[in-house]
Amino acid sequence: MNIATGSAGGAETSAPYGTTAPRRRTRIHHLREYKRRGEPWAMLTSYDTYTARIFDQAGIPVLLVGDSAANNVYGYESSLPVTVDEMLPLVRAVAGAAEHSLVVADLPFGSYQASPEQALHTAVMFMKAGAHAVKLEGGRRYAAHVEALVAAGIPVMGHLGFTPQSEHGLGGYRVQGRGDQAETLLADARAVQDAGAFAVVLEMVSSGAAKRVTGELEIPTVGIGAGPECDAQVLVWTDMAGLNTGQTPRFVKRYAEIGNELARAAGEFADDVRSGAFPAKEHSFD
Ligand code: KIV
Repeated sequence: MNIATGSAGGAETSAPYGTTAPRRRTRIHHLREYKRRGEPWAMLTSYDTYTARIFDQAGIPVLLVGDSAANNVYGYESSLPVTVDEMLPLVRAVAGAAEHSLVVADLPFGSYQASPEQALHTAVMFMKAGAHAVKLEGGRRYAAHVEALVAAGIPVMGHLGFTPQSEHGLGGYRVQGRGDQAETLLADARAVQDAGAFAVVLEMVSSGAAKRVTGELEIPTVGIGAGPECDAQVLVWTDMAGLNTGQTPRFVKRYAEIGNELARAAGEFADDVRSGAFPAKEHSFD
């Protein structure tokens, strides 16, 4: 059985968060079911074992090993430099720790654009690393790529609107889908759906355009800076939890200040070492 599509899965259900029922692995048919029932769901990025385990246990149904690892793990200025070799170990770590969440691996810049064959070659590597699905940026221009992966049994999440891999740092962050752009966005979304994608991320899209795409598509839309009408919402975990203490985009809501808390803990540790308060007797062996 295909673990992600659950095509032979019969009547099994996935308990969404907030319930006490035992959870099963989230599968693509659950996401379709959530859309049918009008139940919004959350996706978070994750790049390592600990966050994957915590988010999995918190009931996040989908984890994205995003190419935002470029900034958040490797400290690059944009997502462009990150490579397949750098992403694969992160996918292994997240997939190894996530017991219930569906794990989506982002195909990095340069690893799929050349041809559907290149996309398939790269996607296979991520699936072998444990991903249940892959994500790639682009609309009509990449429909053949999506089709090739889906034909090989690889579930694909699309990504439209602001697509960082096509911006090359020159376009700046601009809201997409306003005015005439709404038709283009819808045509791209339909192409990605018709090619067999199971969901599509809409990044920095006007709320009106996102609402229209969400209403017209059968597959779920996953918004980031795309308003409240999408079927699901995604945030980069380091932004939403405040590990990134720098400026974050307006669409980010911060749910914690982990960065400040870590800085406090590190400072206290250093103070204790300097003062001799650590290690104490209980931390030492006779
Ligand atoms: O790489 C990433 O984190 C993403 C999200 C912004 C959707 O693509």
